[in-house]
Amino acid sequence: MATIGIFDSGSGGLSVYRELVKVLPQERYLYFSDNAHCPYGEKTPEYIQDRGRAITDILLGMGADIIVVACNTATAAAIATLRAEYPHVPFVGMEPAVKPAALGTQTGVIGVLATAGTLKGSKYLNTRGQYEDNVTIVEHVGQGFVELVENGILDGPEAESTVRASLQPLLNVGADTIVLGCTHYPFLRPVIERLAGPGVQVIDPAPAVARQTLRVLQEHGVTIGKGPFSVDLYASGDLSALGRIYALVSDAAQHIDS
Ligand code: DGL
Repeated sequence: MATIGIFDSGSGGLSVYRELVKVLPQERYLYFSDNAHCPYGEKTPEYIQDRGRAITDILLGMGADIIVVACNTATAAAIATLRAEYPHVPFVGMEPAVKPAALGTQTGVIGVLATAGTLKGSKYLNTRGQYEDNVTIVEHVGQGFVELVENGILDGPEAESTVRASLQPLLNVGADTIVLGCTHYPFLRPVIERLAGPGVQVIDPAPAVARQTLRVLQEHGVTIGKGPFSVDLYASGDLSALGRIYALVSDAAQHIDS
């Protein structure tokens, strides 16, 4: 059994946890929500690196064999620093799913929703650079999306008007594929899909990140499987926000465990 440490600025990383338990159902999970410092989207890289170090120390102290940085913003700001400073620890980060979007688009226009920090990061800019000769890539910050999810507002008029304000500019220029570049956004996927309509495909990179985590554990020779499955939730702030979103994803985990 592997011990898998996961962190995010808040509850969003549970969209990655939900996929991890599908490919790694018999492991011990430690999830850390840094919600006392959420959102990360507008923070400096140095601030996020400091948080990344502090959380990595906590997760390693509890026995993590691997750290999944289940946050696009923290991946952009801090994963290179963490890999350099903890050379023996395997880290898995988020990848903006531009490639599958570029391969699947019919209109030749793909939309990326992410935080300001992710969109400014060199990882995203490099990925964008590889595909922009062939497709038009338009971006928008999901303004207010993280706050909606942290407050448990996943549908209804407020969620719709907030999502529409950031999604509509992408649809207006013909995007037929929307990349979710922040781990909080999959919790708003039903609203995003309803507003975007049936001709628009929404892509969440979490399943690919889960498969990558399995590969990295195997490469590092970490024993996996056999159980028992367990999950412990931690938060730097109020635990109730995390508990609310966990209730949505725990059914999948319990189903797999039983
Ligand atoms: N879930 C984070 C991400 O994937 C959250 C962003 C934030 O805290 O602003 O980017």
